[in-house]
Amino acid sequence: MAENEPIRVVVTGAAGQIAYSLISMISNGDVFGTKQPVILHLLDIPPAMGVLEGVCMEIDDLALPLVKGYVKTTDPAEAFKDVDAAFLVGAMPRREGMERKDLLSANVKIFKVQGEALDKHAKKDVKVLVVGNPANTNALICSFYAPSIPKENFTAMTRLDQNRAQSAIAKRLEVCVSNVKNVTIWGNHSSTQFPDVFNASVQSSGKSTSVYDCINNSQWLEGEFIKTIQTRGAAVIQARKMSSAMSAAKAAVDHMRDWWSGTSDGTWVSMGVISDGSYGVPKGLIYSMPVSISNKQWKIVEGLKITDFAKTKLDLTAKELLEEKEEAMAVCNA
Ligand code: NAD
Ligand code: LMR
Repeated sequence: MAENEPIRVVVTGAAGQIAYSLISMISNGDVFGTKQPVILHLLDIPPAMGVLEGVCMEIDDLALPLVKGYVKTTDPAEAFKDVDAAFLVGAMPRREGMERKDLLSANVKIFKVQGEALDKHAKKDVKVLVVGNPANTNALICSFYAPSIPKENFTAMTRLDQNRAQSAIAKRLEVCVSNVKNVTIWGNHSSTQFPDVFNASVQSSGKSTSVYDCINNSQWLEGEFIKTIQTRGAAVIQARKMSSAMSAAKAAVDHMRDWWSGTSDGTWVSMGVISDGSYGVPKGLIYSMPVSISNKQWKIVEGLKITDFAKTKLDLTAKELLEEKEEAMAVCNA
């Protein structure tokens, strides 16, 4: 059987913490499948080139047959040339006591430059996943500066929040995490996000029961549970003195794999995507929504029940994203 043509996959921040886990998972076939060869494009900044050299030695030493080559560079034009998929990880992480939006002025310009480079050099159907924080607003800026690429091709990562929420519910119910379905993260990857299990279910012995019925404690679900997920990133930073990396890389793999290969019938995942006015969210924000995916196209899941409690939460996180958008545009225009 003829082997598939390799696809080109760029990882920015390739010498950083998240990339260190992510690159091995991409190389192993966890994202694009075990029959899909890849050529890795690894972008970082000049001071990180020594470390990146070591990462490349390790890529060689992984001895993985799917890796058909790699490009190690500090030049966005070379990094984004003909890429099919882009993991935009490279950005400053927050430290203890910071909110993710405190990174905005430092990081947003990176995404302006990379948007322009994607526009000029990437394939027009490139799938872009922004991980670097503040992820939603960085994705918006990146897309703004890449007008020749459809807006649907730019997404921000809220899969880590989804995984955290799914895991917290599974732990509470003492069930396997894969039995918890359809948890939704709404809005910003920030402490205003709304982790919503109103439409989520637990599968057991072929039966599906709502998470609300199984847990039977709305005070916990609408209080401690939400707060824990909203502040989980900060809790990891406090404990590790560095931001989450292993779980962030796994979430990036989950996000891109589902975008590439699709979701199964009746299930959805959460991705920061361009809003079209659904659920009363202002148009044109990169806002985390429940999406189903087939043929590499995501579609917002419509018709989910939004309670008054949920509506307040959806509005609050939209307001923060509108403010971030304004600030980001001001930084880029300065
Ligand atoms: P890190 O500091 O370990 O690595 C970042 C890398 O990016 C470094 O190697 C740095 O040299 C590189 N870099 C900086 N500017 C660059 C540029 N202009 N072009 C290319 N590379 C550049 O950080 P990390 O732990 O890997 O985190 C990376 C980002 O991901 C941070 O912004 C962090 O807050 C974010 N993050 C997001 C999520 C999420 O769920 N969306 C989860 C975890 C971390
Ligand atoms: C996370 O959620 O762990 C990351 O976004 C890192 C952070 O700053 O919280």
